[in-house]
Amino acid sequence: MSTRDCDGISYLFENNQRWAAQMEREAPGFFGRLATRQNPKFLWIGCSDSRVPANQITGLMPGEVFVHRNVANLVAQTDLNCMSVVDFAVRELRVRHIIVCGHYGCAGVKAALGEETAGVIDHWLSSIRDLVAAHRAELDALEPAAAQARLSELNVRHQVRTLCRTTVLKQAWRRGQQVDVHGWIYGVEDGLLRDLGARVSAVDMTG
Ligand code: CO
Repeated sequence: MSTRDCDGISYLFENNQRWAAQMEREAPGFFGRLATRQNPKFLWIGCSDSRVPANQITGLMPGEVFVHRNVANLVAQTDLNCMSVVDFAVRELRVRHIIVCGHYGCAGVKAALGEETAGVIDHWLSSIRDLVAAHRAELDALEPAAAQARLSELNVRHQVRTLCRTTVLKQAWRRGQQVDVHGWIYGVEDGLLRDLGARVSAVDMTG
């Protein structure tokens, strides 16, 4: 590691130059090929949490996964940002799989479980608060850490259901496009992904 600048940011450029050079060395023409088109098979919808970087934890290269991240990996039909990403990924890129990935230890999920207001983020987290209300008895019976983990899982399943009800997905399945939606959760404590078994495909929705 070379000397870091006093404001601690210029090493990002040093990292970048080293990375780009290494990529080009290991796979000559890599960037040139990617420059003309992207052809990712996957759309990842995950949390903004810095500990859950989609490419790194799945071992995917640039060009292999289209990514949308927000606090607590929410899918809302009123969110123009998320819906635009889903629409582009499904209709233009024709991704084969969509992964909604939550994670244990999610600050957004924790905030939604608490009584206290967390400021402007409360508005964003309101759909998780609805989930808490819907599963109140189950969550109340658990220790705080277990309740948080359970709510993270419930949240992923809920977002998968919401995604499957979007016009983009319904139309894709109606025209016979093969695109499966998966619900996964990531453990920040062990670096491992778990499949929540929430896979939905055209067969489930139209068959
Ligand atoms: Co999170």
